[in-house]
Amino acid sequence: MTGKARVLVVDDEINLLKTLSDILNRNGYEVAVAKDGPSALGLIEKDGFDIALLDIRMPHMDGVELLGRIKARHPDVEVIIMTAYGTIETAIKSIKLGAYAYILKPLDIDDVLVNLKKITQMKTLAGEARFLQDQLLQEHSYEHIIGRSKQIRGVVETIKKVAPSDSTVLITGPSGAGKEMVADAVHYSSKRCSRPYLKINCAAFPETLLESELFGYEKGAFTGADKQKKGKFEVADGGTLFLDEIGDMPFPMQAKLLRVLEKGEFERLGGNDVIKVDVRFVAATNQNLTRMLQERRFRSDLFYRLNTVIINLPPLVERSEDIPLLVDHFLAKFSREMSRKQPDVSPEAVKLILSYPWPGNVRELANAIERAVIFCEKGVIKPHDLPPAIHHGPSSASGEPHEFLPEDLRLDAVESRHISEVLKLTGGNKNEAARRLGIHRETLYKKIKKFNLPDAGD
Ligand SMILES: Nc1ncnc2c1ncn2[C@@H]1O[C@H](COP(=O)(O)OP(=O)(O)OP(=O)(O)O)[C@@H](O)[C@H]1O
Ligand SMILES: [Mg+2]
Repeated sequence: MTGKARVLVVDDEINLLKTLSDILNRNGYEVAVAKDGPSALGLIEKDGFDIALLDIRMPHMDGVELLGRIKARHPDVEVIIMTAYGTIETAIKSIKLGAYAYILKPLDIDDVLVNLKKITQMKTLAGEARFLQDQLLQEHSYEHIIGRSKQIRGVVETIKKVAPSDSTVLITGPSGAGKEMVADAVHYSSKRCSRPYLKINCAAFPETLLESELFGYEKGAFTGADKQKKGKFEVADGGTLFLDEIGDMPFPMQAKLLRVLEKGEFERLGGNDVIKVDVRFVAATNQNLTRMLQERRFRSDLFYRLNTVIINLPPLVERSEDIPLLVDHFLAKFSREMSRKQPDVSPEAVKLILSYPWPGNVRELANAIERAVIFCEKGVIKPHDLPPAIHHGPSSASGEPHEFLPEDLRLDAVESRHISEVLKLTGGNKNEAARRLGIHRETLYKKIKKFNLPDAGD
């Protein structure tokens, strides 16, 4: 709600209409009056109101009937019933019919003002929530997925087709290729778009913690469980749950997840009650699940349940016609964010960008452009404004031996340098870096901390 709240007072007592409208006017409301139901309906139809104050006993049409008619046609209008002792039963009934409150006559004006204030606050909040919701829908719709390649157009077509259904979607593709972006578009294009949307990264938790995050627990389920906690399955009820890095879900938990996917039911840890939920699942992985099946690291029954709809995001190098569009998109985005004029890209820099294989995919490209927007001078991006990896090609991290001072040959120094090279190579993506280094993500985090490496974020 913006501006003054508009209030309609309906009563057959002319004096009351006059007094009430004076007081409400003085208190900052925009007021109109009507002396019976039919004329009230006409006014609402014509002018629109936020709130209606209705008397119960009136000629032609009583307040309860009027309430029903208002709510049927204009459900957003909040109604307050004004009632004398003789009609209090009816007033109580009117609450069931959708009135916000009833107020006793003779009117206590403070009571009226308090109720009006509550309603306006509620409407303002609802308006803000709707605005934020619209903004989320805007920002995450499939229209923001940039690319003209056959593959990306296919991805967008599939999102449009599957989003409205409740079917499970599995998104595959290498790190930084846009899997989370696709998951967001699926949720925000579905009929669940205004319901909860939760995300969980299955690689980010040790097994027991992941289980309690998903399933929740009862008080006393384990040491430290001092009160009941709802898990993500429950909180996402009615909405969507995004299971990121599903390939990292521990094998024993996969069976429990399968039951939730198939039956929509589970128990909290330490609990016996079966809880039923209505959740739409979207999962993503950068791992090769088929290979994991063969190695018996991923359950085949879960895999077949997940692969009803697969959306695959190919690496950027396989859809290079998307690169110029993405570069333009990120140039505009970062210049806007940094309040700088959008720079041009020199032909040499364009050449480098187009010939580099982008192992960290769109994320790496976005980081490179962000850096270039910061470093460039005179409104032109030159090759030296791009990250070093792009000049040398991705082989520099693993190929040529580095030249360093003798004291740098300590194993620690070599390890630290190697990790930071790999992080650069993956555009700061820690999952991918951990995979390439052949270590667990948690281990990588520890090493980043230990060596105090720049945390590029992922
Ligand atoms: N086609 C695209 N158009 C616009 N932006 C994109 C596109 N693809 C990816 N991005 C942007 O690139 C970044 C990385 O994408 P995202 O986080 O979705 O990748 P991911 O596949 O989930 O990576 P990871 O496996 O590392 O989690 C995000 O900022 C995303 O908005
Ligand atoms: Mg992701």
